[in-house]
Amino acid sequence: MSKLSDEFIIRGKKIKNRIVMPPMFCFTFTGDNGGMYGEQYVEHYTKRAKGGTGLIIIQATSVVGATKQIGVWSDEQMKPLEKIAQNCHRYGSAIMMQLSCGDIDINELTIEEIHTMQEDCIAAATRAKQAGFDGIEYHFAHGYTLCRFLDSTFNKRTDNYGGTLKNRIRFLTEIMPQVRQVVGEEFIVCVRMGGNIPDVTGAIDVAKAFEEAGVDLLHVSFGMNEPANIIPADFQCSTIAFNGSEIKKHVKIPVIAVSEIFTGEQAKFLIENEYVDFAAIGRGIYADENWANKVLADEPIQQCRNCGGSSRKCLWFVDHTKCPAKKIG
Ligand SMILES: Cc1cc2nc3c(=O)[nH]c(=O)nc-3n(C[C@H](O)[C@H](O)[C@H](O)COP(=O)(O)O)c2cc1C
Ligand code: SF4
Repeated sequence: MSKLSDEFIIRGKKIKNRIVMPPMFCFTFTGDNGGMYGEQYVEHYTKRAKGGTGLIIIQATSVVGATKQIGVWSDEQMKPLEKIAQNCHRYGSAIMMQLSCGDIDINELTIEEIHTMQEDCIAAATRAKQAGFDGIEYHFAHGYTLCRFLDSTFNKRTDNYGGTLKNRIRFLTEIMPQVRQVVGEEFIVCVRMGGNIPDVTGAIDVAKAFEEAGVDLLHVSFGMNEPANIIPADFQCSTIAFNGSEIKKHVKIPVIAVSEIFTGEQAKFLIENEYVDFAAIGRGIYADENWANKVLADEPIQQCRNCGGSSRKCLWFVDHTKCPAKKIG
C-alpha cells in the first residue's frame, strides 16, 4: 500500500511525499520593480515549502517573450524565480513551473503563430531549468489556449492541428523532442489536462498519447468545462479527482489528482487506495501553508472554507487578505 508520506522519484528528482501544491495565480500579489514576480511570491512559496509540501507547481506563467528573453523571462526578472527555486529546495520541496499560452482562440491562429508559440514553450522550459526548477507543466486544461487544441468540440481547424487525435496533440508532440534536448534527462515534463475531453474516454486517449510522446507526469483537472459524469457513491472525492483515477488505470506514468481535496483523510483515500500517485491540495494549502506537515503528523489543519461552494468564489481571486481561514490562523 502506498502512503501519503512515501517519496516518489521522477526523472531523478525526489519528491519527498505525495502532496502537491497545484498552480494557483496570486491575483492580488505585486512583483518587485514593476516586474511580475518579487519578494511577496518568494515568501508565499517558501512558506509552503517549509510547510512540508512535496512538490510545488508555481502558477500559470505566460511563455510569451521566452524566446527573446524579455518580460518575465529577462535576466532581471528571473531573479525572484531563482530565489523561489533555491528556497523550495532548501526546505526539501521539488519545484516546477506551470507554463501557459494564454487565452487565445486557436481556430484563428496562423501556422506561423502556432510555431512562435511552440518556440516560446521550448524557450520557457529552458529558462525554467536555468532558474533552478525541477520541471515544467504545460497548461493544457481549463479551457485555455492549449486545452482548445485537444477538444474536438472546440478545435475546428482543418489543417495538421485539428481533426484526428494525432493532429489535436501535435502542438506538444512536435516540440517534445526539442524540449527534452534542451532540458536534459533529469527534468520533469508534466502536462495539466482535463479528465473530460470532452468525456473521460476521450481524455484517456489523450493521456495515452501524451505518455507515448514522452510526458513524465499527468496532472488531471478539467477540460473545456467542468465534468458532468456520474461517479461511484463511495468515492470520497470530487468528480475531477475521480476522472484522474480513471486515467491512472490506463497509463504507466504517474498521475496527480486535484480538486476539492481539503482533508488529510481525502488525500490518504486517494493515495492509499492507489487511485492516483499524488494529491494536489490547492485552496487547502492557501488556507494553511503547513497543511502537509500537519496532515503527515496527524495534527489538525486550518481548513479551507470552500467559499462559494460549487461556484468556487475563493477570495484569493480578488483579495487574498480576506481569506477567512487566514484571518483566523
Ligand atoms: C485563486 C486561484 C488561482 C488559480 N490559478 C490557477 C493557475 O494559475 N493555473 C491552473 O492551472 N489552475 C489554477 N487554479 C486552479 C487550481 O490549480 C486547482 O485546480 C483548483 O483550485 C481546484 O483545487 P482545490 O479545490 O484544491 O482548490 C487556480 C485556483 C484558484 C482558487
Ligand atoms: S478564500 Fe475561502 S475558498 Fe479561498 S482559500 Fe480561503 S477559505 Fe478557502
